[in-house]
Formats: sequence, C-alpha cells, structure tokens
Amino acid sequence: MRQLLPEAVDAVDPWDVYRPADRDAPLLRLNMVTSLDGAATDAEGRSGGLGGDGDWEVFRTLRAQADAIVVGAGTARTEGYGPHRVPAHLRQRRRGLLGAEAPASIVLVSRSLALDPASALFTEAQTPTTVLTCAASDPERRRALGRVGEVLVAGEHQVDLAEGLAQVRERHGPIVVGEGGPSLNRLMLAEAVVDQLCVTVAPQLLGSAGPRLGGQLETLVQLALRSACTDDSGELFLSYAVTDPAEADQNSRSSSEARPRSAS
Ligand SMILES: NC(=O)c1ccc[n+]([C@@H]2O[C@H](COP(=O)([O-])OP(=O)(O)OC[C@H]3O[C@@H](n4cnc5c(N)ncnc54)[C@H](OP(=O)(O)O)[C@@H]3O)[C@@H](O)[C@H]2O)c1
Repeated sequence: MRQLLPEAVDAVDPWDVYRPADRDAPLLRLNMVTSLDGAATDAEGRSGGLGGDGDWEVFRTLRAQADAIVVGAGTARTEGYGPHRVPAHLRQRRRGLLGAEAPASIVLVSRSLALDPASALFTEAQTPTTVLTCAASDPERRRALGRVGEVLVAGEHQVDLAEGLAQVRERHGPIVVGEGGPSLNRLMLAEAVVDQLCVTVAPQLLGSAGPRLGGQLETLVQLALRSACTDDSGELFLSYAVTDPAEADQNSRSSSEARPRSAS
C-alpha cells in the first residue's frame, strides 16, 4: 500500500496508517467500502463485490485495533456475520496496542431481535457477542439471547446510540469500529457520535439506486481528510475526521471571505 497523504510514502503498513493515537481515548470510526459513484452494495446487494485485497486488510486491521465492533442487525443478517477472529499476523500487534488477547465483541444493534441464538455468531464467539437493544424489544427474545451472549438495553423505542455506546465502552473499552450498514450509519452520523470515517473507494461505477454509505442522511456532515493511500488495484483508502460543525462553519466562513465573490 502506498501513502499519498499526509505525505507520500512508497510502502506503508495499514496498521501504522490507522493506529489510534491514544489507546485510552474514546474513538468511533466507521469503516465502509463504496463504489466511486457512492454505492454501498454490489449487484448482489452485499458489500463483498466492492472491495479488493487492500480493503480486506484495512477491514481486518480496524477490527484488530478495536475493543468492540458495532454493526446493524440488517448487515449482520445480509452478510452472514460470524464472530470476530484476529488473524495470526495481527495478534501480537493487537496485544501490544490494546493489551487484549481476546478478539473484539461483535455488538449487534437491533430492536426486532430477529437474531438466531443458535448461530455461530453466538455459539462460537470467543468473546461473547453483544446485543444492543431498547426497552421495547421482546423480553422473551432478550432472555434467549442473554443465555448465549450479552444484552445491553439503551433507550425506550429504539436504541439510544449515545447511551448504548457508553455502555459498550464501559464493558469493552473506548475504541469502537462501526461496520454499517447505511441505516445505522445515518443515525450515528446524525447523532454526532462518529469521530472518524474510514472509506475504501472502489474503482467502479455501479449506477445502482442502492443504499449509500450514510443512508438517507438529512444532516450535513463535515469531514476533514486525514490520510489517503492506494495500491495497485486502484482502490483509495481514505480516512476522514468528522469535524465539529462550529469549527467547519468557521472554516467555511473564513474561506469564503478569502475567496473572491462570483459575478452574481
Ligand atoms: N459497503 C459497505 O461497506 C457496507 C457495510 C455494511 C453493510 N453494507 C450493506 O448494507 C446493507 C444493510 O444495511 P441496512 O442499512 O439495510 O441495515 P443496517 O444499518 O445494517 O441495520 C439496520 C437494522 O439495525 C437495527 N437498528 C439500527 N438502528 C437502530 C436503533 N437506533 N434502534 C434499534 N435498532 C436499530 C434495526 O435492526 P432490527 O431490524 O433487527 O430491529 C435495523 O433494521 C446490506 O446490503 C449490506 O451488505 C454495506
């Protein structure tokens, strides 16, 4: 992988590019892959056809650097999620960074609790899988899932994401990677709980009307590019900080003041 920004480096290690600056600071990074024209799913309605080997390595790296992996139940169902396993080449690094031997807990966000307690996601997890749900979810299903994993409750009719994340952090640690999908991303971005966006841009135009990375986002989310890498496949591996809206407003005002006005 070659780094383009913040400075050109011929060969970089994804671990170093994405390594969190402070192990103890709360961090929520969303990791997504998208086509150049913004599609978050391939022709089969999944993400698998979008990313190449570089994207796979970034995906595994971000997981290995996380205390918890948060995902919408829709993605877990569509993509057939299993428990997290740390690849051999990242185990020692994970231990060095987080002091953790065990893999991260997968945290499933769900109200319906349409999740199978007999699936490998629960029965084969080395670190118990977590279900983050709301008080209005079915108590029977909660009990069944609580027997094979952990259940956290935050919010009444839907999961209160800020409160839910606080519980996840208290239980597992401060560094969280969010893996989508678009519906959950939209809520997380709207609630301003996201710090970083790690996006792989696949060199494809799909032209589909499928979901976008941030779903039907209604709020402007201002981003600042922090790093850009590429590899021989032509994928771009971008990392953005989600900036404070007040700061962004200030920046845009000062840049528009500096820019000559158009003729209108
Ligand atoms: N390109 C990529 O990187 C990428 C990444 C991930 C997913 N995807 C694709 O995106 C699609 C899935 O995305 P999606 O937007 O349909 O689903 P999603 O965001 O993964 O999951 C939506 C589900 O999450 C639960 N949920 C979300 N917010 C909640 C809240 N505040 N309270 C309670 N439950 C909440 C609900 O589950 P219940 O229905 O169980 O209540 C909801 O139906 C798939 O096609 C997948 O392949 C692409």
